[in-house]
Amino acid sequence: MTESALGAPVLSVTDFSVDYLGRNPVHAVREVSLSLARGEILGLAGESGCGKSTLAYGVTRLLRPPAVIASGKAIFHSREGYEIDISQLRGEDLRQFRWDKIAMVFQGAMNSLNPVIDIAAQLEDVFTAHRPELSSQERRRRCGDLLERVGVDRRRLRAFPHELSGGMRQRVMIAMALALDPQVLIMDEPTTALDVVVQREILDEITRLRAESGFAVIFITHDLPLLLEISDRIAVMKAGRIVELNQAYELYTAPRDPYTKRLLASFPSLTGERGGFIRSGLSDDRLAQAEDQDRGTAGGRAETPPETPSDGGGGQARTKVGEG
Ligand SMILES: Nc1ncnc2c1ncn2[C@@H]1O[C@H](COP(=O)(O)OP(=O)(O)OP(=O)(O)O)[C@@H](O)[C@H]1O
Ligand SMILES: [Mg+2]
Repeated sequence: MTESALGAPVLSVTDFSVDYLGRNPVHAVREVSLSLARGEILGLAGESGCGKSTLAYGVTRLLRPPAVIASGKAIFHSREGYEIDISQLRGEDLRQFRWDKIAMVFQGAMNSLNPVIDIAAQLEDVFTAHRPELSSQERRRRCGDLLERVGVDRRRLRAFPHELSGGMRQRVMIAMALALDPQVLIMDEPTTALDVVVQREILDEITRLRAESGFAVIFITHDLPLLLEISDRIAVMKAGRIVELNQAYELYTAPRDPYTKRLLASFPSLTGERGGFIRSGLSDDRLAQAEDQDRGTAGGRAETPPETPSDGGGGQARTKVGEG
């Protein structure tokens, strides 16, 4: 699929490089260009240390020294019709921008909840900081609504983090990220620490919320089978570069880069009952054809996963430029 067929971009990253300075400088991200379409789930895959988190932190300007953005820029295209050059944001503007327009669920986030403060207070903090005009009653109501959106009973507002399971804590982190109705959600290994059943529930939740709210997602994980299932497109990263970026189905059935091929081959689940990892919306014919070509055999397709939204795009193209 060409980028234009995907719909209007919500985020475009051009020629983006990040170095960690020091005695032995690390070129962690090298000349990465990609664009995220409105409402799309873009998977970012690659082995540990290839630069996935650094790219995400760089784009959202969360990097600290010794990291420096060595080149490139990231432009946010708001649904309201204006553009923001994220690299030019400073101070309060940057702080406002971050939760409001692009929110992140960090790697290991569920362990970053403050253990001595209840869930309500931690969720309310987001509203206090970003929506100071809300009454305390309204804030409390929104926090309850948010919890319910991510499948947690609102009575849990009174709970402390240690009273919640890992899955629930991760849902709270997702609720927090969704609090201000962001247009982009960057999730860095959001389910890696969870068991497979809980992981499945949370993935379903994310795809459901995406369909409901229309935000776009950059989903980072080294778990390629998982990405194949939930992503519209996948970018494969190696040693700081994106070596391949394609529609999930194309990347799976016709990988071009040798590294992508090796990565696919490293997951036995993909070389076995491959179809089970393909997101729904693919015709059985195409899948069977691909498998026949690949293995010279017929049939044997596993069940397709539960429903995921089939339409990632759907945004209106707006071109008015200039921050309002
Ligand atoms: N604070 C730092 N100082 C120096 N080098 C760093 C720092 N943080 C990361 N790096 C290096 O930058 C490279 C990219 O790291 P990064 O954490 O972005 O990888 P990743 O793809 O997110 O890995 P993982 O899958 O393990 O989370 C690695 O070589 C890492 O060692
Ligand atoms: Mg990482």
